[in-house]
Amino acid sequence: MATIKDWIWNEIQQIGKDYESVEEVASYDESHSKFRDAIKESQDILAHLNITKGQTLLDIGCGTGVFAREASKAGLKVTAADVSETMLQYAKEKTNSENAEISYIKGGFLTIPLMEQAFDYVTTSFSFHHLPDFYKFIALQRIINFVKDNGKLFIQDVVIAEEDFERNINNLIDHQESLGGKFLREDAVQHFREEFSTFDWILEQMIERAGFEIIDKSMESGLLARYTCLKATNK
Ligand SMILES: C[S@@+](CC[C@H](N)C(=O)[O-])C[C@H]1O[C@@H](n2cnc3c(N)ncnc32)[C@H](O)[C@@H]1O
Repeated sequence: MATIKDWIWNEIQQIGKDYESVEEVASYDESHSKFRDAIKESQDILAHLNITKGQTLLDIGCGTGVFAREASKAGLKVTAADVSETMLQYAKEKTNSENAEISYIKGGFLTIPLMEQAFDYVTTSFSFHHLPDFYKFIALQRIINFVKDNGKLFIQDVVIAEEDFERNINNLIDHQESLGGKFLREDAVQHFREEFSTFDWILEQMIERAGFEIIDKSMESGLLARYTCLKATNK
């Protein structure tokens, strides 16, 4: 009898940007610093989540681990996951050099094994768009099991508001070029050409159907969305 394992999306394969590439990973923080302050962004998210020291957090698609390290420094017990061995290696080295304490797991939205203990927070930044929509929903149905009752899911990603989406995407590509030349232009073009950012109304329906309540949403430039979602106690 066929099972989900037979046809599930291979999330270990790289789509769009190749985050197994050593050069790509080594230049990631520097190239991102041209358009975001990842440390301040992380601290703002932690403040927004209203965390208490000693609570637990799982960050999925941790990349170079900036957010995980800030969460650990803020007193959370942090587990960080990524499908890229190269990213994990880089993040682990940074963790050691900054004296943060983080448990790392190799795996992603579809493959992280269910753990005995659920988390107070599950977070993911700029990683969810690596899954096609059908698998985003399967991932959300898994993620809800990783969140404690009354715990929160936080998703930050490139998500597309329907109004003026073509203009917004073109503006973003031009803006990225003005900040980082051809490299950031191609980075943005590749995002929309090869990765799976989706419309906000599609993502929101999936989040809610999976059993979360969206308690806060913000949207910048019609393309950068942040969702804070609550796991209701009876789910
Ligand atoms: C654009 S980076 C974001 C990294 C970091 N969260 C940040 O905010 O800078 C995307 C990350 O998602 C990871 N990724 C890709 N597909 C994934 C999946 N299915 N599950 C978990 N992580 C995934 C990539 O390896 C990469 O490290």
